[in-house]
Amino acid sequence: MEILGEKDEFADPARVRTLDEIEGDVSFDDVRFAYEKDKPVLHGISFESRPGTVTALVGSSGSGKSTIISLVCAFHKPDSGEVLVDGIDLSTVRLDSYRSQLGVVLQESFLFDGTIKENVMFSHPDATDEDFLSACRIARVDEFAERFPEGYDTIVGERGVKLSGGQRQRLSIARAILASPRILILDEATSSLDSESEAMIQHGLSYLMQGRTTFVIAHRLSTIRRADQILVVEGGLIVERGTHASLYALGGRYYDLYTRQHGLEENLFLAPGEGDTIEEPAK
Ligand SMILES: Nc1ncnc2c1ncn2[C@@H]1O[C@H](COP(=O)(O)OP(=O)(O)OP(=O)(O)O)[C@@H](O)[C@H]1O
Ligand SMILES: [Mg+2]
Repeated sequence: MEILGEKDEFADPARVRTLDEIEGDVSFDDVRFAYEKDKPVLHGISFESRPGTVTALVGSSGSGKSTIISLVCAFHKPDSGEVLVDGIDLSTVRLDSYRSQLGVVLQESFLFDGTIKENVMFSHPDATDEDFLSACRIARVDEFAERFPEGYDTIVGERGVKLSGGQRQRLSIARAILASPRILILDEATSSLDSESEAMIQHGLSYLMQGRTTFVIAHRLSTIRRADQILVVEGGLIVERGTHASLYALGGRYYDLYTRQHGLEENLFLAPGEGDTIEEPAK
């Protein structure tokens, strides 16, 4: 009943503008937001992400990283302040014209009960076979798909072949490459993949991030280090911002997170089970 009672997004009279192709400049101007009345989660967030740059969000669990990302996705509207895309207030924009330019790769990628091809083409049903195969090659989907007897027509998901975490992620990267969004959202997996899968995913991701405004909830040092801008979020505020080098030199919150995680990453080489007593990495 709750779902049926939801208002249609298109019925919102404030959404009057249709976006043409965007550059991908995203900025937050003193954004405040609460899921529930009187329980503010974001307390005035301001930043700018220039087109084509990578912004990494780090900070402890519950600090507000996913909430910031969901506002970039326009899943919610700020209670005050503005989220601007190319200088246009996102709350006045028709969502279909925005979302078609937004790509999302999450830790747990959603696969439909269909073929590999259908799952990749879903983001751009009119793509040519050539574009489809090229996306699969860049994301290294070809490496596993072509080994199945049915190839790209192999059914995956509930009733089909089970794919590994790394393979699912490669599939969702291929999907995003095909969609070719201006703004890209990544939520990196926390689980450690073997170094081979890791290398394959990095290849696809690096390609995908080129020339797009990327937001990444980063867990991997390699990603954080190459970010143009790191935002350290704590308690719904940006407490530090800068590059890896400048924040490391600052010796503050980022330095603490970094040194804690760096110790942990070295410990990934422990035998299975040996590292289990170590504190969880800050997400
Ligand atoms: N749908 C929701 N309804 C109510 N409160 C929520 C909701 N989602 C998140 N919150 C609250 O908002 C705060 C920020 O949550 P958020 O998910 O943005 O944190 P995060 O930084 O992404 O954490 P994590 O690293 O664990 O993913 C938390 O206190 C959380 O409990
Ligand atoms: Mg989160």
